[in-house]
Amino acid sequence: MNVPLLDLVGQYRAIKDEVLPALQAVIESQQFIMGPSIAQLEAKVAELSHARHGIGCASGTDALLLPLKALNLKPGDEVITTPFTFFATAGTIHNAGGRPVFVDIDPDTFNIDPAAVAAAVTPRTRAIMPVHLYGQMAEMERLLVIAGRHGLKIVEDAAQAIGARRSIDGVWRMAGELGWATGYSFFPSKNLGAWGDAGMIVTSDDAAAERLRKLRLHGGAKQYHHEEVGTNSRLDTVQAAVLLAKLPHLAEWSEKRREHAAYYGQGLSGLTAVRPPVVAPGNEHIFHQYTLRVDRRDALQVYLKGKGIGNAIYYPVPLHRQPCFADLRYPAGSLPRSEEAALEVISLPIYPELERAQLDYVIDAIREYYR
Ligand SMILES: Cc1ncc(COP(=O)(O)O)c(C=O)c1O
Repeated sequence: MNVPLLDLVGQYRAIKDEVLPALQAVIESQQFIMGPSIAQLEAKVAELSHARHGIGCASGTDALLLPLKALNLKPGDEVITTPFTFFATAGTIHNAGGRPVFVDIDPDTFNIDPAAVAAAVTPRTRAIMPVHLYGQMAEMERLLVIAGRHGLKIVEDAAQAIGARRSIDGVWRMAGELGWATGYSFFPSKNLGAWGDAGMIVTSDDAAAERLRKLRLHGGAKQYHHEEVGTNSRLDTVQAAVLLAKLPHLAEWSEKRREHAAYYGQGLSGLTAVRPPVVAPGNEHIFHQYTLRVDRRDALQVYLKGKGIGNAIYYPVPLHRQPCFADLRYPAGSLPRSEEAALEVISLPIYPELERAQLDYVIDAIREYYR
C-alpha cells in the first residue's frame, strides 16, 4: 500500500466540478487583477476569523511581512517569537527591519511559552508573534495580558490554523480574532489551499486595514499616487476564485482531520515510544499536521518511507540555530525544548481523503516498528 503524506489530486477530483466553473468565470471576465472574488473572499475569511477586515495578499509570508512593516520597526526593535516554526515567521521579522527574539516552547503543544515571552520583554520589544503551530492555537489569553501590560502588538502567525479556535472564559475565540493582525497562508498544502501562492491578513483595526490595503498596492489608495512605499502583493483573482469555491468545505475537511487524529491516537495508544499530539484544554485543533514525538525518530522515518508511508519533519532545525541567524548568538542548548522537539517530531499523513485502510496500515506499521 502507498500512503502519501498529502494527496491533493484526491481533493481535486472530489471538488473539480465546483472549482473549475469558478475559475472559468474569472477567465471569461479576464479580470485577473483585483477582480470581485477578492473582496468576497476577504469578507468571508474575516467573518470566519471574527475580524472586521480581510486583506488578500500574494502569500502567507507577505501576510506576515506587511503587518510587521506597518509597525515601522527601527533597527534594534525586537519581536518575540518561537524558533519552532516555518522560516517565514522569523524571516519576515528580519525583513521588516526588526530583530527576532526567540523564546522556548511549551513541550506539549509546541507553541510559544507565555512565561518565556514575559521574561524576554525589554524596552526594545514592540510585538509578540505567536504561531498556532500545526493548527492548534497558542495561549492567546496569556499573551494578551503580557501585550497589554507592555503596550505590545500581537501579530498572529495563523498560516497553519485557519478555523482553529480556543474557548476562553467559556467563549469560542477564533485564530485571527484576538491579535492586532493575523497572517494566513493558502499555500496549496494548507487546510484551505489555493492552486498557487496566496495569503490573507485579517485585522479589526480599521486604520491598520486601510494602511495594509495600501501597502499591498505600492503604498497608494489611488493609482499613481503613493503616500508611502509599499509593494505589489495583491492576491491573484484566480486564486481567490479557487479559495471561494473551496471555503464551504473547510469545516468538514477539518472535522475529518480531527477524526483521523482521534483514530491514530487510539491506534497508537499504549506505545511508550510514541507520544501522540496533545490538544490543550479549550482548544479545537484543525490538525494541519498530525505530529508525534517518537523515540528513534530518524530510523522510523527511513522505515516508514520503505513501507510507502509519507512523512515529514516539521521542523528539523529550530530557527535560532539557522546559519542566517548566527549573529543573534543563540548557542546550542539555549532553547532546549525547541531543540529536543526538532529531534523527536515526525508528521504523518492526515489529509481528509485518507481512508480507514490507509490509517490502519500506518498504525500497524508503527506498532510493528516498536514491537
Ligand atoms: C507557520 C508558517 N508561517 C508562515 C508561512 C508562510 O506562508 P507561505 O508559504 O504562504 O508564504 C507558512 C507556510 O508555509 C507557515 O507554515
